[in-house]
This record gives sequence, structure tokens and C-alpha cells, in this order.
Amino acid sequence: MKPTLVLLQLQCLLCVFVGVCVPSITGSLPHALPWHVSCPVRCVCQIKPWFSPDSVYHEAPTVDCNDLLLTKLPLPIPPNTHTLRLQSNLLSELDTAVLHGLTNLTDLDLSQNRFSHVRTITQSSSLPSLLSLHLEENHLSHLPRLPSPHCQLCRNSF
Ligand SMILES: *[C@@H]1O[C@H](CO)[C@@H](O)[C@H](O)[C@H]1NC(C)=O
Repeated sequence: MKPTLVLLQLQCLLCVFVGVCVPSITGSLPHALPWHVSCPVRCVCQIKPWFSPDSVYHEAPTVDCNDLLLTKLPLPIPPNTHTLRLQSNLLSELDTAVLHGLTNLTDLDLSQNRFSHVRTITQSSSLPSLLSLHLEENHLSHLPRLPSPHCQLCRNSF
């Protein structure tokens, strides 16, 4: 076999590898997909990978409003929101009427805000799907004992 032919064959193999293997490797990694909804101004709305507390993979409609110096909930929050990220803002209270419509909200991140009580979140049963509530780095002095009856994770940890 001539050396050029061998080189050509190697190049072909490389092409096949790059053309077939690389897209399927990167394609199998979880990644964000576009989510065409009316998104609150300055927030990012995407379908993103989400793992439940028992490690089940979901493609979760996600509203990301982290780091926006927000003092109130951004509107409109799409009704089918699964994950709502409000980390690193200036929130001290939530409009429960807005949260009330979010029947599929599973993960709510309120960490690094100015909440001093969580009564408004936990008192109502308006978040029947909530599994994960992030409240670290707020101004809370205590947590109420009665979270949502549907909240499996809360029930286990309280
Ligand atoms: C919640 O999710 C279910 C199942 O995916 C869907 O049928 C329903 O329309 C969603 N609710 C809202 C308010 O979008």
C-alpha cells in the first residue's frame, strides 16, 4: 500500500470519527434548549436539565432571574415554570398571588435575598409540586414547622 493511500484512509477514519462520533457524544450531554414564552424582562427562559432529589432527569422549563437586584417578583412568570431562580436579588417578600398559578413549580431558589420570614411561601398550599426550596443566605431567624403537605422533601427533613 502506498503511504499516501494510508494517509488518505486515516483521514477518512478521522472524518468518520469527527462526523459521527463527536456529534453523538456532545448530543448526549444535557444542555439548555430554547423555550419560546413571554419571559420577564432581563430573565432567561430555557428548557434546562434538572435532577429531582431522587436523581431522576427532567427537561425543566426554567426561568433564570439571578443577580438582577430585583425587589419584587418579575412578571410575567410563565404558568408552566418548573424551576424559578431568583438567587442574589433584594427580595424581602413574595406576591403569593403570582406564585399561586405556578402549579408545576418544583424548584424555587430564593437564596441570597432579604427574606426575614417564610410564612408567605409555606402557609399557602399554592405550590403543590414544590420539591426543592432554597433559602440559604437570607435574614431568617426561624423556619415554620408546617411546610406544604405535598412537599416530600420537606416532610422528610422536618
Ligand atoms: C403542568 O404540567 C402538566 C404535565 O406536563 C401539563 O399538562 C400542564 O399543562 C402543566 N400546567 C401548567 C399550568 O402549564
